[in-house]
Amino acid sequence: MTLDTLLSHRLLVVTGKGGVGKSTTAAALALASARGGRRTALVEVEGRQAFASLFDTPPWDFEEREVRPGLFGVSVDAEDSLQEYLELFYGAKRLSRFVVGSTAVEFATTAAPGIKDVLLIGKVKEMERRREPDGRFTYDLIVLDAPPTGRVVAFLRAPEATLELVTMGPIRQQARSVVDMVTDHERTCAVPVTVLEDLPVTETLEGAAALRALGVALGPVVVNRVLPERVDAEARAALVEGLSPQAVADRAQRAGAALEPDGARLLLAQAEADRARLALQAELRERLHEHLDVPLLELPERYGTRFGPQELDTLARAIEERVA
Ligand SMILES: Nc1ncnc2c1ncn2[C@@H]1O[C@H](COP(=O)(O)OP(=O)(O)O)[C@@H](O)[C@H]1O
Ligand SMILES: [Mg+2]
Repeated sequence: MTLDTLLSHRLLVVTGKGGVGKSTTAAALALASARGGRRTALVEVEGRQAFASLFDTPPWDFEEREVRPGLFGVSVDAEDSLQEYLELFYGAKRLSRFVVGSTAVEFATTAAPGIKDVLLIGKVKEMERRREPDGRFTYDLIVLDAPPTGRVVAFLRAPEATLELVTMGPIRQQARSVVDMVTDHERTCAVPVTVLEDLPVTETLEGAAALRALGVALGPVVVNRVLPERVDAEARAALVEGLSPQAVADRAQRAGAALEPDGARLLLAQAEADRARLALQAELRERLHEHLDVPLLELPERYGTRFGPQELDTLARAIEERVA
C-alpha cells in the first residue's frame, strides 16, 4: 500500500473512533479526489448530517447531488435502500413509500439486525457498479463515511452473515456481490482515522487487525489534528534551560518587545503544554509505525471558530500534496 494508489481504488471505507474527524477526513478525501478529475461520491450512511455544514449546502438526502465540481453527496438510509431494492428485484414500483416504509424496515431490522447494514452497504455497491450508457462507471471513486471502529466490522461483515443464513435467491446474490466488493483489494480499501492520543491509537491498532482478519485491505492511516511544530530547536532548547518568566520578559525587552512577566508565564506554560503534546505525538506516531506496515497520512490541526468549507479546502489540499 502506497499513498499514490489510494485514490485509484473504487471504494474507500473511512472509519475511526467517534470524534477523531472521520467525517471531516472522508469529506477531504472526496474533495481531493474530485479535484484530481475523478467523478467522486461521498456517502453518509448514518444520517448524522455531518456534511451539509462542511460543504455549506442544504441537508443531504437519498438523491445524489453535485456539491462541488465532480463531487456528488448522498445520505443513504435503510428505508430508501429497501424501497429501491424491492423495485429492482421484485418490480415493486407501485408499492407506495407508505406501504414499504418504516414498518417493513422495522420488521427487517428487528427480525435480523444485520439486514439494515446489508441494505446500506448494498446501496453503496449499487453505486460502485453503476454504469453510464456509454459503459463507463458512473463514479470513479466512492468515499464512505462508515460507522465508527467499534461497529465497522459488524457493518462490513453483515453481507457475509447473510450468506450463512440465506442459501439462494436474489438476496444471496446481492450479499455475495457486496462481499466480493469489500474483500477485493483492488476495489476497496479501509482508511482508519485517528488522532495522536492513547485511546484512539489503541483502537486503531485493534480495528486494523479486525479489518484485515475480515479480508479487507488496509489503506493508509490518516493521522488527524497533528499539532504543528511552532517553535524552532533553539527556542525549545531555551525552554529546557528552565528560564524563569522574569528572565524571558527581560530577554524580550532587550529584543525590543514589550512583555510583562505575567505574559511570559503564559507563554512558558503554553510552550510546556506544546512540548508535552509533541513528545506524546512522536511516541504514538512511533507506535503506529511499529505495529502497522501502512503509510501515515498526517493532517494538521486547524484553528478557527467554525470548521467550514475553507478548513475543508485546506485539508483536501494537504491530501492532494501527499497522494499526487
Ligand atoms: N484537522 C482538524 N482541525 C481542527 N478541527 C478538526 C479537524 N478535524 C476535525 N475537526 C473537528 O473535530 C470535530 C469532530 O470531527 P468529525 O469529522 O465530525 O468527527 P467524527 O466524524 O469522527 O465524529 C468537528 O467539530 C470538526 O470540526
Ligand atoms: Mg462523523
